[in-house]
Amino acid sequence: MLTQSTFDHADKADKTTPMRPAIAHIHLKNLLHNYQLLRQHAEQAQVMAVVKADAYGHGLKCIAQALQQAGCEHFAVTDACEGAQLRNHLGEKANITLLSGLFDSSEVKICEHKNLTPVITEEKHIQWLSEHKFTRQVWLKVDTGMQRLGAVNPKKIIQLCYQHHIALAGIMSHLACADTPEHPLNLIQADAFYQLHQRIAAHLPASLLNSAGLIALPQHKYDMIRPGIALYGAEPIPHEPMGLKPVMQLSGQVMQIRDIEQGSTLSYGASFTADKAMTVALISLGYGDGLPRALSNQGYAEFQGQHLPIVGRICMDYCLLDITEHDVTINDTVTFWGESLSPNTVADLIDTIPYTLMTGVNQRVHRIAIHPKTQADGASE
Ligand SMILES: Cc1ncc(COP(=O)(O)O)c(C=O)c1O
Repeated sequence: MLTQSTFDHADKADKTTPMRPAIAHIHLKNLLHNYQLLRQHAEQAQVMAVVKADAYGHGLKCIAQALQQAGCEHFAVTDACEGAQLRNHLGEKANITLLSGLFDSSEVKICEHKNLTPVITEEKHIQWLSEHKFTRQVWLKVDTGMQRLGAVNPKKIIQLCYQHHIALAGIMSHLACADTPEHPLNLIQADAFYQLHQRIAAHLPASLLNSAGLIALPQHKYDMIRPGIALYGAEPIPHEPMGLKPVMQLSGQVMQIRDIEQGSTLSYGASFTADKAMTVALISLGYGDGLPRALSNQGYAEFQGQHLPIVGRICMDYCLLDITEHDVTINDTVTFWGESLSPNTVADLIDTIPYTLMTGVNQRVHRIAIHPKTQADGASE
């Protein structure tokens, strides 16, 4: 029904290289489901898929190519380095925007050569672009209340762009509180962006919304929306679910099972004491892979619909699960987040956000893409 392939550093390994069972399955069927859902929410607007930070830890090439095949034409990454990689994966046709823009003037050459569209926010960016005779487009990013990256003098910057013959792809801004729809800053920012667009850039395409913004401010879609986290299946506003499906399934394997006596302590710091005789499983996944250490004695793994508590401190390469009441055996696979245990639920347990869970999964973890078989293969799913 499904095919799978390994990628990223696993690709470089020779076929006989043993694979430590620390695995992130990447369910492309769920990615396509999320993309189609976002397309519906976008209505007339285009979707700029945010694939920065290695597609939020999922693997840039695999995610971006799957989205491109599904019809996505606009992509956003952080900087010229990520942009150049993405250009190599997607070919000439894709539009690639750099959301953090230019860090120094030498990056203009990469943007020119690779046809990347940097965000600009300051007068010095125009100087750099004109020094290098930049012939491509830029997005102007304006600050409307987040006080992060964004021009505070957008009118001046637009004038300078015209003077220096720098073409503008559009004007964008970013919301600070979109995941809290009732926050007053949302409407303040939306209004500031509307006024600015009307006053100084009405002829230019505009973009304001990230994933949560689609729910918080659905009437402000303009020409392009910029979803990131929703593509990967975490609900941007959990109490108003969109029906997204997690793309990453992070798993480890049972390496050892041990019966322990009442009173035994577990792992570093002896932070867990068994209050009864217990059975404990050693799992091949730790904080050195991206499993947050804060889940020690807090979180759980999922196995056949059951929750197995994480007991004792999570180590760099391992963690321990209480399997006393469960029928778990050596080599079984347990899941730390995925469709059966959502990244939103896990993030809530330790007062973080799904973004940190996903981007925290590092290169030691083997990504295995699960491809839905195409109709051409004659398979159904
Ligand atoms: C400028 C900009 N637009 C869009 C996004 C995507 O945001 P989200 O992942 O919340 O949809 C980000 C993410 O940080 C961003 O910085």
